[in-house]
Amino acid sequence: MQTDSEKTKYRYNRIAPFFDELEAIIEGLFVKQRRQTLWRKVKGEHVLEVGVGTGKNFPFYPENTRITALDFSEKMLAQAKYKKKRQNVTVDLELMDVESLCYADNSFDTVIATFVFCSVPKPYKGLQEIYRVCKPGGQVLLLEHVLSSRPLMAKLMQLLNPVVSTIFGANIDRTTVKNVQACGFEKVLVDPSSSDMVKMIQAIK
Ligand SMILES: C[S@@+](CC[C@H](N)C(=O)[O-])C[C@H]1O[C@@H](n2cnc3c(N)ncnc32)[C@H](O)[C@@H]1O
Repeated sequence: MQTDSEKTKYRYNRIAPFFDELEAIIEGLFVKQRRQTLWRKVKGEHVLEVGVGTGKNFPFYPENTRITALDFSEKMLAQAKYKKKRQNVTVDLELMDVESLCYADNSFDTVIATFVFCSVPKPYKGLQEIYRVCKPGGQVLLLEHVLSSRPLMAKLMQLLNPVVSTIFGANIDRTTVKNVQACGFEKVLVDPSSSDMVKMIQAIK
């Protein structure tokens, strides 16, 4: 029997070749601007991007910053490698699972992820790992879609989640703000411009 991790990898490997096209309209209308706002908050010399996917954040990478980016789906990472070459982006791309990072404690000034903890099979484990590799005083920046706070909408999302996660690999019932708050950060800030279902989170270690 497949583990949750194998299932999620399989789903992203399957949609990798047309992932950008699949999300193009939502990306242009709602997401691009939010990515830019999040990446403007990046600080420090060494940045880790978790769940790089096809490399949609490449246009927002700050200059003069060492960036390492990882993903556990070979096919998503292959798309990112292709884009890296085509767009001449300076980034070290690694095949790795956020639930088990190979980096030493306190390695990065900023750890950043966009729409990743909706699909990490054990999100709390992954968040604990990024807490571990973030330097004291460093920050974790997340842009994540989460379960609605409106009871009726939340029920509907919970009902639809098995179908959505099977097709797209992403869960629509995650309580990522609560999960981050449980990780032991000094401060967890949710940007007031966040909507009910898309949260911009800044956690300071
Ligand atoms: C919805 S995509 C988002 C990709 C990209 N961050 C973006 O904003 O377009 C989620 C990505 O997270 C990756 N992912 C999910 N679980 C992961 C894990 N445990 N370790 C590393 N990457 C993971 C998936 O392979 C996929 O590429």
